[in-house]
Amino acid sequence: MKREDIDKILQQLEELKCKTQKEVEEARVRFLGKKGEVTALFEEFRAIDKAQKAEFGKPLNELKQRVQAKIDELKNSAADEGAANGPRLDLSMPGDPYELGSRHPVSIVRQEIVDIFRKFGYDVAEGPEIEDDYHVFEALNFPANHPARDMQDTFFVSAGHLNPLLLRTHTSSVQVRTMERMEPPIRVICPGRVFRNEAISARAHCIFHQVEGLYIDEGVTFADLKQAILLFAREMFGPDTQIRMRPSYFPFTEPSAEVDVSCNICHGQGCNICKGTGWLEILGCGMVDPNVLEASGIDSKKYSGFAFGMGLERIAMLKWRVNDLRHYFENDMRFLQEFASAPEV
Ligand code: DAH
Repeated sequence: MKREDIDKILQQLEELKCKTQKEVEEARVRFLGKKGEVTALFEEFRAIDKAQKAEFGKPLNELKQRVQAKIDELKNSAADEGAANGPRLDLSMPGDPYELGSRHPVSIVRQEIVDIFRKFGYDVAEGPEIEDDYHVFEALNFPANHPARDMQDTFFVSAGHLNPLLLRTHTSSVQVRTMERMEPPIRVICPGRVFRNEAISARAHCIFHQVEGLYIDEGVTFADLKQAILLFAREMFGPDTQIRMRPSYFPFTEPSAEVDVSCNICHGQGCNICKGTGWLEILGCGMVDPNVLEASGIDSKKYSGFAFGMGLERIAMLKWRVNDLRHYFENDMRFLQEFASAPEV
């Protein structure tokens, strides 16, 4: 082995130029391939005596490293195959348009409702979508044989034992979880997804969204409820909005009411959206039944409160005059893009 053998390769390396990746690969094979020049020197190295090994070991390794570094460098700078003759990159061309998505109408409405109630001092609370019978029914004063527990409405996850797991049918279950966890005063708003075993149609779906509200403190009255709903309705549907309350029934509130807002389309004149009545139903509400307070460990002698619940799809339908609930879940771009210019709330 001679020093010149190494120097010769270094010299070649110095002069090496490659225009294309193909030439770089050829150079790699020429030096480092199985029959390459550097590989041959390493083979030769194996046979030489000890004294020579000490002399050539280091320069040989350095040579290999420099060859590899040079090949890597050339690889980065050489043009891709064919590119040298192909069209050049034109940096003045317009870029590919980047399509921005938009918020889903249900998300827009949920955010708007949450923001309105935040201004009134409500916090957001959440609970599980897979719930147990206790939090969805039992603690909310549903008698054991209440029809809402029927297989018709409820998707059961596990059946057969005392407290089966199910998909929550309303967000009122979050009321219960909040009362278990917090001491009054309690002011929460609970948006979430709910599930009911309904045949899918323009007016019903097996998945939809609700917002539940709960306010508990000393001396809360029905007048407070009415005021909270009126303020909400005016923020949501405009300052001229009127509300009316009709007596109703829910197991977890007493007294209970359903709330209508004056039709913001015909302003009470009567149109096909309000079916000629001038009113649109938006939510259910009432004073929390003392049984419900007590079930979650709140002293019903000391505290009272109100609750309300509304469907987000319904509010969005009224806001944007959507006439078929199925649009919300089908991900049809033509529908979703209609909300691209909705105000960012
Ligand atoms: N949970 C009821 C439903 O799903 C809505 C509701 C009505 C909630 C009255 C309430 C309430 O909190 O007080 O239809």
